Amino acid sequence: MEYRIPLIAGNWKMFKTGNEAVDAATQLVKLVSDIENVDIVIAPPYTSLAVVSEVIRDTRIDLSAQDLYWEKEGAYTGQISASMLISAGCQYVIIGHSERRQLFGETNDTVNNKIKAASASGLIPILCVGETETQRDEKKTFSVLDKQMEKGLEGLTLDEHHSLVIAYEPVWAIGTGKSATPDQVQEVHAFLRDLVEKRFGNMLAKATRILYGGSVKPDNVSELMTLPDVDGALVGGASLQPDSFSKIIHF
Ligand code: 13P
Repeated sequence: MEYRIPLIAGNWKMFKTGNEAVDAATQLVKLVSDIENVDIVIAPPYTSLAVVSEVIRDTRIDLSAQDLYWEKEGAYTGQISASMLISAGCQYVIIGHSERRQLFGETNDTVNNKIKAASASGLIPILCVGETETQRDEKKTFSVLDKQMEKGLEGLTLDEHHSLVIAYEPVWAIGTGKSATPDQVQEVHAFLRDLVEKRFGNMLAKATRILYGGSVKPDNVSELMTLPDVDGALVGGASLQPDSFSKIIHF
């Protein structure tokens, strides 16, 4: 029987100074010390990665960055490379979040460069895909997702040493309190797993975790987690408070 360990990830976006991040991570470590069968990831801003990695050392909690740049090093003011993230303690990196696509000019091509650089360096990419409200209304959800997956994953090779996490985050559900319905989520997740199977084969499709993101809260997470193709959640707002994030992790 196929089994994927659930993964609950908290994207802290541009919240928390170093001290605030250390405080929140310290509380979270205590609150989830009983957890055994859920992988936990937090993604603080760059400036808190190194200090938070000390707090979560030897715990179940892993560290993610929220973005990276694909070059190894060079004159790229403001950018951060994969090896810098690894040396700051990261195992994961979020790539292609809709806020980066909408506000900072991220395209499927830049996403693809980032995915390949992350994977080659040993980081696990969390590839975010998702349609806007207009695209859903115009019945373009599946063609948009197909393109984001096709272009985003072009040229990527996966094997037992290079895994991938996908996060389905419908743009209209992010920060709005309006989560997608279980039917909508399952339909998209099954579609995404199919695309992974077409590209990487059946074994990797079964092993790849597909997270849902968009207004995940303590009171809607358990229903989402019962869906066959939902393997976890990427949580924004509700991950900022250790208490509510811990409730989500204890779904
Ligand atoms: P919210 O949980 O605040 O809707 O944010 C979701 C998100 O963007 C996670 O990456």
